[in-house]
Amino acid sequence: MATKGTLLLLIVLLVAAADAQLMQKGRRRATTAAAAPTHLHFYFHDTVSGKSPTAVRVVAPPDASSMPMFGMVNVMDDPLTEGPEPGSGPVGRAQGLYMGSDQARLGFLQAMNLVFTSGEFNGSTLALLGRNCPLDDVRELPVVGGTGAFRFATGYALLRTHWLDLRTGDAIVEYNVYVMH
Ligand SMILES: *[C@@H]1O[C@H](CO)[C@@H](O)[C@H](O)[C@H]1NC(C)=O
Repeated sequence: MATKGTLLLLIVLLVAAADAQLMQKGRRRATTAAAAPTHLHFYFHDTVSGKSPTAVRVVAPPDASSMPMFGMVNVMDDPLTEGPEPGSGPVGRAQGLYMGSDQARLGFLQAMNLVFTSGEFNGSTLALLGRNCPLDDVRELPVVGGTGAFRFATGYALLRTHWLDLRTGDAIVEYNVYVMH
């Protein structure tokens, strides 16, 4: 009788131990999947005026009087810096274009690569594609991919205008980018 009882207890203990191990594995997998995104913070300098612009108009809006920006295409190679001052530490470049694609208000389709040239992500890039209405307080652009350290990247960027010259259109924009990779 005693042996039967002991055997049963042994089986119960073994099953419990196997269950606990499975749960541990599952938990570990869940933790990996929910890993924290990489947070990047920097400033984007879009200079359209002056002798050395970093964004150039390649297509003028066809009907500038009634729809000031619709149909316009600007190509940029804009510096990204650590702080809002143009002379602060370089982070990389934003290379791509933004085009007026909203007939009712100021709204761009923005397609660009963020090319990192310093720090931990030097040599890696992020590809962003989304809608940018520059007069909104916060704009959200999807991160659709990346290279190097950012292979398999997915995420989003939040853009806030730090400074805007309404006369020239020059702007400094704060970027907070959250990336899973
Ligand atoms: C970034 O990487 C390039 C190529 O490896 C290198 O030449 C450059 O010095 C690096 N820049 C910084 C700021 O680390």
